[in-house]
Amino acid sequence: MNTEVYSLVNAGKIVAGAGSIKTISDIVTDYQAKKVLVITDQGVWNAGLVQKPKNLLESAGIAVEIINTTPPEPNADQVSQIFETAKNSGCEMIVGLGGGSSMDVAKIVAIMLTNGHSIRELLDGAKITKRGIPTLMIPTTTGTGAEATPNAIFLVPEKEIKIGIVSEKMLPNCVILDPELTVNLPKAITAATGMDALAHGIECYISKKANPFSDTFALKSINLISRSIRKAYNNGQDLAARQDMLLGAMFGGISIATSSTVAVHALSYPLGGKYHIPHGLSNAILLPHVMKFTLDAAEEKFKDIAVAMELETTGLSARQAAEKMIDNLYSLIYDLNLKVDLREKGIHESDIDSMAEASLKVTRLLNNNPKPMNKDDIREIYKKLFE
Ligand SMILES: [Fe+2]
Repeated sequence: MNTEVYSLVNAGKIVAGAGSIKTISDIVTDYQAKKVLVITDQGVWNAGLVQKPKNLLESAGIAVEIINTTPPEPNADQVSQIFETAKNSGCEMIVGLGGGSSMDVAKIVAIMLTNGHSIRELLDGAKITKRGIPTLMIPTTTGTGAEATPNAIFLVPEKEIKIGIVSEKMLPNCVILDPELTVNLPKAITAATGMDALAHGIECYISKKANPFSDTFALKSINLISRSIRKAYNNGQDLAARQDMLLGAMFGGISIATSSTVAVHALSYPLGGKYHIPHGLSNAILLPHVMKFTLDAAEEKFKDIAVAMELETTGLSARQAAEKMIDNLYSLIYDLNLKVDLREKGIHESDIDSMAEASLKVTRLLNNNPKPMNKDDIREIYKKLFE
């Protein structure tokens, strides 16, 4: 039990449900914004998802400018370029439409417009003293939970790491969770981002920073994702499953905002920062192995997770239920076709030592794992990814 003081802060207004994108013009009008900047990426643009919100806003007399060039793992220079465009746009509100990258860029650009710091200064720890201009987040993937977190994470190429900027002042003013925007999400992205969301729920529940707020949202997140991830993967048009995934992902984000992820995300950082394995995928493949390592220290909590996953646990001891939960994680990797050959991605066993070294530095997360991990433990877990 976490005996420290804990708190929960979140987005100001959250609208959910099929067709909820229709509320966009009312939301923007509430903020009296006459011009909106939409920050999105090429995938979302090519999928035609920008047109509807753009039409809705323009019909309400709101001008719209669009940046559709957010890269998958934005680095500091790319954020600077997008900020320059934003600064000259005269926008009064920013919409982040897309996955974690678009939303993180939207959050930080809103902050940069009012705080006067460059992205480099913020990555070096410059203090954020003011809220940004108003923001609206519309996730189109179902995993990162970036719409609910006070974090924005960017790549620093020369250091081969990702750095997270954290400030409650970055929390969005509004969020729209419309499953209709996610029905055409490719299978591989549904799987990887969904497993990222599942990792958020599980890690936040077992974290040393867990508290009654995070427990509530984490268990519900695990429940929603577990019951719908296979359905959403097998039939992308299943609106009910897509809605579960969107809510589950956001609840995972809320859990992060009050608890923390632990060793899965810590070990995932080097895979993303140095080798550019997508965030969801690296977390997905690490999740069962890290849980197996952690089992002894979190048996009862794993049992709760098994129950949240609606696994049959009647008559099982806590240990047996916990093991069943871990088996389910391995099954998910198989069912969702997430097995990855790291050698094909340019990562070899000879890289394990440097990856272990790098992940040991992510103390912010590693220290919250219920079972401590040393370098040898981490090496052993990385080795399993090559089996
Ligand atoms: Fe994550």
